[in-house]
Amino acid sequence: MTAISTTQSGAPVTSDAHSKSVGADGAIILTDHYLVEKLAQFNRERVPERVVHAKGGGAFGTFKATEDVSKYTKAAFLQPGAETEMLIRFSSVAGENGSPDTWRDPRGFAVKFYTSEGNYDLVGNNTPVFFIRDGIKFPDFIHSQKRLPGTHLRDADMQWDFWTLSPESAHQVTWLMGDRGLPASWREMQGYGSHTYQWINAEGERFWVKYHFHSNQGVKNMTGEQAEALAGSDADFYIRDLHENIEAGNLPSWDLHVQVMPYEDAKTYRFNPFDLTKVWPHADYPLIKVGTMELNRNPENYFAQIEQATFAPSNFVPGIAASPDKMLQARIFSYADAHRYRVGTNHAQIPVNQPKNQVNNYSQDGAGRYLFNAPSVPVYAPNTFGGPAAVEPQNPAGGWENDGELTLAAHSLHAEDGDFVQAGTLYREVYDEAAKARFLETITGAVGGVKRSDIKERAIQYWTNVDAELGAKLRANLGAGQPESDAEAATKY
Ligand code: HEM
Repeated sequence: MTAISTTQSGAPVTSDAHSKSVGADGAIILTDHYLVEKLAQFNRERVPERVVHAKGGGAFGTFKATEDVSKYTKAAFLQPGAETEMLIRFSSVAGENGSPDTWRDPRGFAVKFYTSEGNYDLVGNNTPVFFIRDGIKFPDFIHSQKRLPGTHLRDADMQWDFWTLSPESAHQVTWLMGDRGLPASWREMQGYGSHTYQWINAEGERFWVKYHFHSNQGVKNMTGEQAEALAGSDADFYIRDLHENIEAGNLPSWDLHVQVMPYEDAKTYRFNPFDLTKVWPHADYPLIKVGTMELNRNPENYFAQIEQATFAPSNFVPGIAASPDKMLQARIFSYADAHRYRVGTNHAQIPVNQPKNQVNNYSQDGAGRYLFNAPSVPVYAPNTFGGPAAVEPQNPAGGWENDGELTLAAHSLHAEDGDFVQAGTLYREVYDEAAKARFLETITGAVGGVKRSDIKERAIQYWTNVDAELGAKLRANLGAGQPESDAEAATKY
């Protein structure tokens, strides 16, 4: 039997089709509470979109720890044989909600593990590095990639102005303009934690780790032409691909690997191991397999389970902690703050964000409060009424030695630090000849969109710094003359 429709408070509604009016053709009346409730709820259907990574999709799945990494971490969900429910959300960074999935952009790869010790969120991308290395630049960086306020258009001049004035972006931009900048689908791309994190074992020993998710579907990319065509014909191509494959039982999976650096190595490593613009060569720290993540369940309601999902790099569990990476520390503040604004102060109580284990604390009230303590639980700590209490000290909670004055400075320099070193290696040693040709075509198109000649010249210098031959080819493609002199070029760059 069809259920009877009701108001939000459960009373049967008088009609689904007609507002209450004074006679059939008369005015509608304010006491038609159901009409008012329906229109008012409709007006509030949207929450603000994510300030970045607004367009995305996701699915639920299971993570199985198939290997034994207990000598590196005591995290319960990483102990051999553990199986943990998880949620993933894939996304694009700069476009608004509704923008085409296939525009060139890094893809978000945000994973929430519902572990027995609380939720662990690994909020990564499909790239191992990032454009900047200090969070203070993040709002400026994003402004330069979004829309110019005057025209409300994306603008090549401001993108390249920012990138060329922030040479630490070279590695990520080289990656982005390469073939992997346009994945064939979310299923066919890798995921990275990108930052260096800390793992702590049961004995309290500390390690530095980087996470790598390797797609069991293989890595496949699409051409610029394919991506452009899809942006026009099927703007939701990635969402559709993921949904249909899971629906058809073609379940995508990724093997999780980590690179592990012994704690003390970080002090003498040849470059700063906490610099998010760098990768650790696998020859120095090989991949160690941890387990497999399989996606097996589509969301039933996109808004409730994906739009309202809140992933935060501050959601750690025992055995995993932060590192001296300044970007990571900025993110540890930023996300939970965004969630309180975007979804509400009690966002963690929404079913998709709730941990599977019991939450015990003294927080209370706030808009949208849904869960609460039993009346017998005291509202403060410490107390003598048997309320929840922390186990102290948290054996150890994760940390590292700190010293020095408070300062405003770049990460300390190491012998092999350089913004263009790994970008050049990626271009020369990872891209084959065909990939190099496609790369040149992509940057020619991208830099070709720059209108101001001094910014265009800086962009040519930027790629010349990545690789001199590449820079010369770009200059020729753009029909740009030689810079007046090296000294002059240097002042521009
Ligand atoms: C989303 C800030 C760097 C990956 C977000 C959001 C904010 C933010 C405010 C929206 C959160 C929400 O409304 O739910 C920052 C800041 C950064 C930074 C301040 C630098 C200091 C990064 C980096 C990565 C990354 C380095 C990847 C390694 C993501 C992903 C999402 C996201 C995947 C979407 C999460 C989801 O699917 O809900 N970021 N971000 N961000 N960020 Fe960042």
